[in-house]
Amino acid sequence: MKTLTIIPTYNEIEALPTTVDRLRAAVPETDVLIVDDNSPDGTGELAEQMSAADDHIHVLHRTKKDGLGGAYIAGFTWGLERDYDAFVELDADGSHQPEQLPDLLAAIETADLVIGSRWVSGGSVVNWPLHRELISRAGSLYSRTLLGLKVRDITAGFRVFRRSTLEDIDLSSIESVGYGFQVDMTFRVAGQGKTITEVPITFVERTLGESKMSGGIVVEAVANVTKWGLTARAKALARRARAFSG
Ligand code: GDD
Ligand code: MN
Repeated sequence: MKTLTIIPTYNEIEALPTTVDRLRAAVPETDVLIVDDNSPDGTGELAEQMSAADDHIHVLHRTKKDGLGGAYIAGFTWGLERDYDAFVELDADGSHQPEQLPDLLAAIETADLVIGSRWVSGGSVVNWPLHRELISRAGSLYSRTLLGLKVRDITAGFRVFRRSTLEDIDLSSIESVGYGFQVDMTFRVAGQGKTITEVPITFVERTLGESKMSGGIVVEAVANVTKWGLTARAKALARRARAFSG
């Protein structure tokens, strides 16, 4: 399979070079697309230099910080215009270890979506503060329950999508800007009855740069999950009422 690894960046000038070097060493055949939101720290210019030195590396520049979801959609759109068979999502900060990507790529051979999971047996988190672990676990539990999903790590950002999985999603209708985007994508793939495989990963908290997680991102995700969950339930109830009366 011809793969494109998309790396969204906002102020990742310190972490990006190591992450890309590790990725190129671990999976030399993948192409890389860095999607930078005009980072004030010069990550976009650095990405251009990396691209000039290595023809596997490409860069997409967006004009302003506009969220993880939008960055990935721009990257998917770029890749779908080309002949890639699989699309990888990878954080720039080293939390997703490129050395574990071959495990995910092996699993995509027989799945529509592969999720690198912290919350399955064998998965773990290194150096995460307790509050981040609680937010992540609670977020996954809330989403699982409300959306009726079996996935354990619903907000995870280390993933592989098959081309056909992305082609069957109306990317223009994705409303989440922040990490809720990951939940949105999972919900849609599951709703189509597709195969989702979770592969255990070790998520290592960054040592360089800063997280872009904010209260607003959490609020957006919780609000959207609640809305999707209640809408799906209302639809199911209406279907049952119709079946009963007819
Ligand atoms: N282009 C762009 N625009 N990139 C962004 C933006 C944005 O608005 N916001 C974040 N990023 C990039 C970061 O530069 C980094 O490469 C990646 O997205 C993840 O951002 P982090 O800020 O490091 O996320 P985190 O460590 O707090 O969150 C992790 O856990 C989340 C919840 O499980 C990530 O793995 C997320 O993907 C995951 O959803
Ligand atoms: Mn991070």
